[in-house]
Amino acid sequence: MTHNGFFTVARRMLLAVAALLMLPGAVSAQLPVIPTPAKASAGRGALALGTATAVNVCGGAYADELADSVRAFIAPYGAGEGSVTLMLADSLRLPDEAYTLEVSPDGATLAASSPAGLYYAFEAFRQLARAGNGKVQSCRVSDAPRFAWRGFMLDESRHFFGKEKVKQYLDIMASLRLNVLHWHLVDEPGWRIEIKRYPRLTEVGGRGNWHDPEAPAQFYTQDDIREIVAYAADRHIMVVPEFDMPGHASAATRAYPELSGGGEGQWAGFTFNPVRDSTFTFIADVIDELVELFPAPYIHIGGDEVHYGNSSWYTSPEIQQYIADNKLDGPVGLEREFIRRVADIVAARGKTVIGWDEIIDAGISPSKAVIMWWRHDKAHRLLMALESGYRVIMTPRRPLYADFVQDPGHSVGRFWNGYNRIEDVASFPEPVMYLAKGYEEQLLGLQMSLWTERVADTGRLDFMTFPRLAGVAEAAWTPAASKEPTLFMRKLPRFLRWLDTKNIRYFNPFDPKSTPEPSAPDKADVLKNG
Ligand code: ACM
Repeated sequence: MTHNGFFTVARRMLLAVAALLMLPGAVSAQLPVIPTPAKASAGRGALALGTATAVNVCGGAYADELADSVRAFIAPYGAGEGSVTLMLADSLRLPDEAYTLEVSPDGATLAASSPAGLYYAFEAFRQLARAGNGKVQSCRVSDAPRFAWRGFMLDESRHFFGKEKVKQYLDIMASLRLNVLHWHLVDEPGWRIEIKRYPRLTEVGGRGNWHDPEAPAQFYTQDDIREIVAYAADRHIMVVPEFDMPGHASAATRAYPELSGGGEGQWAGFTFNPVRDSTFTFIADVIDELVELFPAPYIHIGGDEVHYGNSSWYTSPEIQQYIADNKLDGPVGLEREFIRRVADIVAARGKTVIGWDEIIDAGISPSKAVIMWWRHDKAHRLLMALESGYRVIMTPRRPLYADFVQDPGHSVGRFWNGYNRIEDVASFPEPVMYLAKGYEEQLLGLQMSLWTERVADTGRLDFMTFPRLAGVAEAAWTPAASKEPTLFMRKLPRFLRWLDTKNIRYFNPFDPKSTPEPSAPDKADVLKNG
């Protein structure tokens, strides 16, 4: 290369770097923090953490409590210097969950007006400390979430993973500032939550899983549930249970056949009996126990894929008579009436209903229900929900279902005109925001959802969840203007190394061959466009 040529190339490179730095969010995205903060700048030098680093508190009891965790976190780094100050004060007037973080070689200040905000400042601080092996780079961060609902749905009906795995995931969710575990505990293969008034739900309904109907019963006791809900609350994560109905009810109707809405073969008992008062007494009793166990203001009632027991709602004389007596519009009208009755049960207990996007048609008041949009191929359902005045949580199959493969070479999992790469997860919801134009305030947030038909063990669970969970955190937390997809991907290897320390068996998008697919039982298969 000539001397001149060298300068031309060097100048172009400098211009390219300058252009990158001028991109909104480029500086935020350069700090080794996931999700990318809303605003950040980096300074000179670093604060060295260790036993000599003083931890000071300015604020109430929660800041004192967190200070103990900060001390425990920094002590192993060695000698250290300077100070870390935790400041929790209404007078800072920071929105809920927002925080600021200022670090110089002399000290760090973590500040917020809410316990969640202070906790998130600590999580960002921890990531910076890990990145510098105890030396926290000087910076100023001013951060707040884009969406209130930043979730992960785990299906433990198809396969059961147990308390320790759930707790590990809650730890990682907290680090990523995800704040909702949507827990799908009830579906066809198994009923996974103890209900005192109906012990057969777990004795009988808890038996089996998606690939082995004879598997011994597996479920969470009410003590387990309380333990997990408390563990999540300590990490500012709300746990929302799903009781899916009127379809996907097979585990419950196996336990109590009198609740069945009929049907034959694989569809026998797929729905609850939609017309008997005893069904609604049962539902109200179960919801009473859920309300006791879960302090979240929401109960998810499912409402998806009812299929009418694949015909029984058309053929049962009892159901047909009810439809005629109540002048309902056939099974469709009956399904809507069922959802309205359940929504009333939930509302009478002071909770808000969440349902899959099918429940829009039930006509529940938008003040009483939140819609989960999942059918990516029916984008108009998102628009309908918003136009009808509902708040909406987005979890479209593409790109937010984690049972879709994340690499074209994978053989177990779903495809539907493509698959779900982490880049697409992190770039959500920009591709659909044109649909929500004018309704942005009604978007409560988004979540990644993991159905586990093809996820029989924790190895595959990790493989499907990670690293995409970091992608959904970026999607849900980081404001659009601060997102920088290339820089997000550049931060990911550090996240993968942290997962290594937790023995998480993730997929490595940078080197797919280094992380081969875990084996799967025979019935685990590829599902295309379904
Ligand atoms: C769903 O995937 N059936 C909500």
